[in-house]
Amino acid sequence: MHAIYNAIASHRTRFVSELKELLAIPSISTDPARVADMKLAAEWLCGHLEKIGLTSRLFETERHPVVYADRLDAKGKPVILFYGHYDVQPVDPVEQWLAPPFEPAVKDGVLFARGASDDKGQLFTHIKAVEAWLETAGSLPVNVKFLIEGEEEIGSPHLPGWLADHPDLRSADVVVISDTAQFGPGMPSLCTGLRGLAAFEIHVKTGESDLHSGSFGGAVPNAIQILTSMLNALHSENGAVNVPGFYDEVAEPGADELRSWGTLAHSDEEFRASAQVGVLAGEAGRSTLEKLWSRPALEIIGIRGGYQGHGHKGIVPATAWAKCSMRLVPCQTPAHAIDCVRRRVMSLAPAGVHVDFLSGHGSPPVSIPVESQWVESAVRALESGFNKKPVFIREGGSISVVTRFVNDYGMPCLLLGFGQPDDHIHAPNEKFNLDDFVSGIRTSAALIAELAKLDSTL
Ligand code: BES
Ligand code: MN
Ligand code: MN
Repeated sequence: MHAIYNAIASHRTRFVSELKELLAIPSISTDPARVADMKLAAEWLCGHLEKIGLTSRLFETERHPVVYADRLDAKGKPVILFYGHYDVQPVDPVEQWLAPPFEPAVKDGVLFARGASDDKGQLFTHIKAVEAWLETAGSLPVNVKFLIEGEEEIGSPHLPGWLADHPDLRSADVVVISDTAQFGPGMPSLCTGLRGLAAFEIHVKTGESDLHSGSFGGAVPNAIQILTSMLNALHSENGAVNVPGFYDEVAEPGADELRSWGTLAHSDEEFRASAQVGVLAGEAGRSTLEKLWSRPALEIIGIRGGYQGHGHKGIVPATAWAKCSMRLVPCQTPAHAIDCVRRRVMSLAPAGVHVDFLSGHGSPPVSIPVESQWVESAVRALESGFNKKPVFIREGGSISVVTRFVNDYGMPCLLLGFGQPDDHIHAPNEKFNLDDFVSGIRTSAALIAELAKLDSTL
């Protein structure tokens, strides 16, 4: 690995400036005004992957293109599929950024830009690792594929179809993804579980139109009051989700896993401070790591109704709605969770009031078995790349397509996060530590060497 690590160290400045080029493209998948930029980012990646010695293709979808590239000349050796996403989150509130989000800038060894950590910067570690291998050894000891989508931040609506349509392109011995984070600075981590997601909306309608609050107030139902009391009833006093059946499918982590979480240096006070909140919340009797990693959550993510303009308006509002999102843990299914809340919400609806329950997108949770040769290789690679033994963690976030790889296709999947929990992903001033960027490239290069020692199972 020595020669490859030297190459990575000597190209650090160039690698960072190339990443800055990619970060300068405002590829916000949810913004219709950025469709051309999405295409530009995809084309940039195709061109870059070609330049380092891979064969690349751009696949159009109904929305944003999929980038695919490969180099498959290591006969009989394992095939690694690197997955990442080139789309980023919106930048608002943009006034809270200390520098413009699409003008990447390095300050004290930290790269600031939207997408620096989630996920362009982390994805780029794998591209640069492959490049360093090719430059140093002239060839790769494994077969590599890159699958880079532009719809991760909007729930990957078209990727499952693409995977089904291209079995030969998606097939691999192992999937490698860096779209999670380290447990903390200097704590290389292997993630063994992701929460799933299930979204829903509640719409309340009490009558045909808002009414005068003097002529009707106190004698007719108020849509906002009904909605908020229904929402309130979805949690109990002790912070648990108060929905019959909701916890039925929840699997408790094993004793070994819980014990190993207990050894992680977690401080509730530091966590509280990093979240910039005055107090922590949630289910009584559960540790913060359990709340984030192995317990489901139900969040009200938006609420609207009534008058929101200047001053006051004398009305009894006739309509109100709320958007909610649940984070699901192994072995919950979005369908069961949605069913349970739907029943609960409809049972809370007062007679004579119109309540609509709408279910949105869902994605099941994922868990990664640790007893595998793939995980052993990843542990060795992380230890080599960071000069430190990795820890096993889970994450509270979701990556929709991982459940396809793991649950639908039975593919082993390695979740190696190089970012930090305080990288401000999805928030103003997103950042990526450049030492983590370089350690990530080293890890990825070491992983290629480790996986080359294994037999292909294809
Ligand atoms: N990279 C994140 C997932 C993540 C977040 C992993 C935090 C570990 C820690 C990913 O880009 C993301 O934001 N996922 C969305 C999925 C949704 C849009 C379907 C999420 O978790 O909300
Ligand atoms: Mn991501
Ligand atoms: Mn994200």
